Amino acid sequence: MSPPRPALPKFGTDWNSLGARMRALGQGDADWRSARTAVYIFNAGEDVLSVAKEAYAMYQSENGLGPLAFPSLKRMEEEVIGIGLGLLGGPEGACGNLTSGGSESILMAVKTCRDQAAAAGRTVVGARVVVPVSAHLAFDKACHYLGLEIVRVPLAEDRRADPGAMAEAVDANTLMLVGSAPCFPYGLIDPIEALSDLAQDRGLWLHVDACVGGYFAPFARMNGVDLPGFDFSLPGVASISADLHKYGYAAKGASTIFHRSEAQRAFQGFESGDWPGGHMKTPTAAGTRPGGAIASAWAVLHYLGEEGYREKARIVCETRARMMAAINALPDLRTYGEPQLGLFLYGSETLDTFQIYGRMLARGWFSGVVTEPRAIHQMLSPAHADVVDEYLEDLEAAVAEVRGGGLDTTPVSARYS
Ligand SMILES: Cc1ncc(COP(=O)(O)O)c(C=O)c1O
Repeated sequence: MSPPRPALPKFGTDWNSLGARMRALGQGDADWRSARTAVYIFNAGEDVLSVAKEAYAMYQSENGLGPLAFPSLKRMEEEVIGIGLGLLGGPEGACGNLTSGGSESILMAVKTCRDQAAAAGRTVVGARVVVPVSAHLAFDKACHYLGLEIVRVPLAEDRRADPGAMAEAVDANTLMLVGSAPCFPYGLIDPIEALSDLAQDRGLWLHVDACVGGYFAPFARMNGVDLPGFDFSLPGVASISADLHKYGYAAKGASTIFHRSEAQRAFQGFESGDWPGGHMKTPTAAGTRPGGAIASAWAVLHYLGEEGYREKARIVCETRARMMAAINALPDLRTYGEPQLGLFLYGSETLDTFQIYGRMLARGWFSGVVTEPRAIHQMLSPAHADVVDEYLEDLEAAVAEVRGGGLDTTPVSARYS
């Protein structure tokens, strides 16, 4: 028999009791507040969390769908877009919008590219979007929604996009190329410069997915990290996605989609009056646009400022380097690739990596995994700086357990969504 369906209670409950119940519900969640979660959460410290929360609460009821009613949100969105374009080399005339997250930003980039091509008389049904294998699945989702074909191209040996192989995958029916800065699985920045040349040579739209790096890489570069070009300073880059709710440290529900020109963005929005409810115009996929998310992004950007973000980027890069060095010094473990930002991978070629993952999970350390190679995925936040020693101690113990064999009863999943 299936469990009883939850029902709306007949009478209300006071907030104190509800708050207690909600805290109890959270008892089984990943313990991100103690920096034991290296996926899903971007913890830049209590002060930043509090600014994000207060700003969200201040505008939680306002709706970005109505710029006439809420010029405050319109102004904040414009300022956030201006800041993002400033960080990402946006040329004169570049523009953008806030969206609910990376997936929506990517959907908007692919949709805009498709509709611009259709307006130019191209056949777009089944047209191609060529991406490296490491590009986020949000591109598959966008292609699925938009009736396009996604072509996933194998990577070069260094696990970055292979521009030669991508060039070979381009056919007369191809609209878009994608590179990541960095990609989610490996934390590596693709050779965007070569992809920009390819896009220009073949008249293609290049989208750079900087959902992870957009509000991190510019500050790492200011700190002296020698990053390759990945933004609008490369002439073939048509659009960039960059998430504020990742390394922008804003409340969830905030990303940015940037376009090189207004002429391009003209194909992003939707407007119609073909119903009795009046004319409606939306710049992105959303109808209602949560004022809280816009306000939170605006507030955190201003709270931290360039110096604040530089310091967070410095802490994360230093923590990553420290963890990688320590892990490489441990027997049976190794890291993969040469990431330059906040994301890295490690695993074992002599022991079962997913058994190690399971034993770390049992000790309360929640992170992602990668299947090729079999590896543990760490997306670090500034808060991880305080728990490195504890993590490494637990890792040594976990590895020793796996080396010693014995029954591991921890359910290990290669999926985490
Ligand atoms: C590189 C990259 N692109 C896109 C996304 C999708 O972002 P969201 O989960 O905000 O939709 C992610 C999420 O982790 C990502 O890492």
